[in-house]
Amino acid sequence: MSGTSHLSIVILAAGQGSRMKSALPKVLHPLAGKPLLQHVLASARQLSPKELMVVYGHGGDQVRSVIDDGSILWTEQKEQKGTGHAVQQAIPEIGDDRCVLILYGDVPLISTATLVELIKQVTETQMALLTVHLENPTGYGRIVRDNHSKVQSIVEDKDANDGQREIDEINTGILAVQAGKLKSWLGQLKNNNAQGEYYLTDIIAMAVNDGIEVVTSHPSCEEEVMGINSRGQLAELERFYQRRQAEKLMAEGVSLADPNRIDIRGKLTVGRDIFIDANVIFEGEVSLGDNVRIGANCHISNSKIEAGVEILPMCVIENALVGKAARVGPFSRLRPGANLAGGNHIGNFVEIKNSNIGQGSKVNHLTYIGDTDMGSGVNIGAGTITANYDGANKHRTIIEDNASTGSNSVLVAPIKIGRGATIGAGTVLRKEAPAGELTLSVVKQKTIEGWKRPTKNRT
Ligand code: UD1
Ligand code: CA
Repeated sequence: MSGTSHLSIVILAAGQGSRMKSALPKVLHPLAGKPLLQHVLASARQLSPKELMVVYGHGGDQVRSVIDDGSILWTEQKEQKGTGHAVQQAIPEIGDDRCVLILYGDVPLISTATLVELIKQVTETQMALLTVHLENPTGYGRIVRDNHSKVQSIVEDKDANDGQREIDEINTGILAVQAGKLKSWLGQLKNNNAQGEYYLTDIIAMAVNDGIEVVTSHPSCEEEVMGINSRGQLAELERFYQRRQAEKLMAEGVSLADPNRIDIRGKLTVGRDIFIDANVIFEGEVSLGDNVRIGANCHISNSKIEAGVEILPMCVIENALVGKAARVGPFSRLRPGANLAGGNHIGNFVEIKNSNIGQGSKVNHLTYIGDTDMGSGVNIGAGTITANYDGANKHRTIIEDNASTGSNSVLVAPIKIGRGATIGAGTVLRKEAPAGELTLSVVKQKTIEGWKRPTKNRT
């Protein structure tokens, strides 16, 4: 029975979450950029269950369209009549010989390790309950034990007497039990309690009555079993989660200016001796090579930042590759498909999209580079614009090695600038600029001699 080969997991996610005051179903609210339910599913999947079931209710269609991946068995609970009733909806699908693990869709940080320990204890004669001691147990179901400290029952806060309310060991709601037994107990549930609900917690006394011992185990920290009912609790758990990630990063050799001011919404892979200044946000999959430095207030998503790169403050970088030892910012925007070969300088108010920037090329000020293949050693003057869009289609610009554009040039694509070519300041380039030559489109400078400034009419 022990082990996970016969495991069915049921995740309860039908609750309304009315305290969120939201059109979004509670389990879709994000923690670290990922819906609460996805966190639970991720921990659940690591146990390789035979069945993974989600009991849904409020906003079910929305939940299914965001989460569905084909591996989940969905069961609707049309009316929320309690946790016992919720499990009843799923249980007919589950074979008697299975071990059933109950999880909550709004308890996102439960760890796989804690669940492995819990499931281990399920046998023909034992069921397993995850409990925790809380300084303030108000609101939770209390664990009632006998003189020999054996679990006897769970009493809900609203049904508890004064003595029971003193108990500080509470029910996390997470439990594991053999399916056949669970089925028989669920069939006996009654709703004659303070809330008029079918409580899953009533199966504990039934188990004891049937000679099944209820053994307990505990999570490694309280936050693992913290449920989300309000936006305040969500924010609290987010800060806990981010702090834990920050500590992991520091342990891996990353310096953080302030471990309370970094947000990782996804997966951050790091090398050694990295420095990250305050208020940096990472999203999706980001990797940082050795000796990378990231300035304050940068937003970096789904990008690869190679060794020795320096990102100065206030940069937005999305789906980009920043090659070795490049320097980017302050105030640079790298949009999807910006590939910097390395050794580049990208400066303030520069936007780069869908472009390859060769080794050592510099784009230092006030510039838009889109749909461009740029060679190495190129220097782009301040205010250079690739006019890549004709109103209907996008066109490419090719800038060969060691070319240089003067300030305020417009490169009207499709266009090519040859190797080593120089473009004069203020040029509107509409035809290919030949290699090695100076090309300009500006009219020759002239001076009108004897010209007088107009003066104000005196009336
Ligand atoms: C439940 C437990 C309580 C425990 C607490 C831990 C019961 C009777 N009580 O109380 O002992 O200390 O959790 O947080 O089990 N749900 C459904 N359908 C329903 C009702 C609930 O899917 O009809 C889901 C909710 O979405 C939620 C979970 O079950 O994910 C727990 O429901 P909730 O109403 O929060 O239970 P509590 O009353 O807090
Ligand atoms: Ca609750």
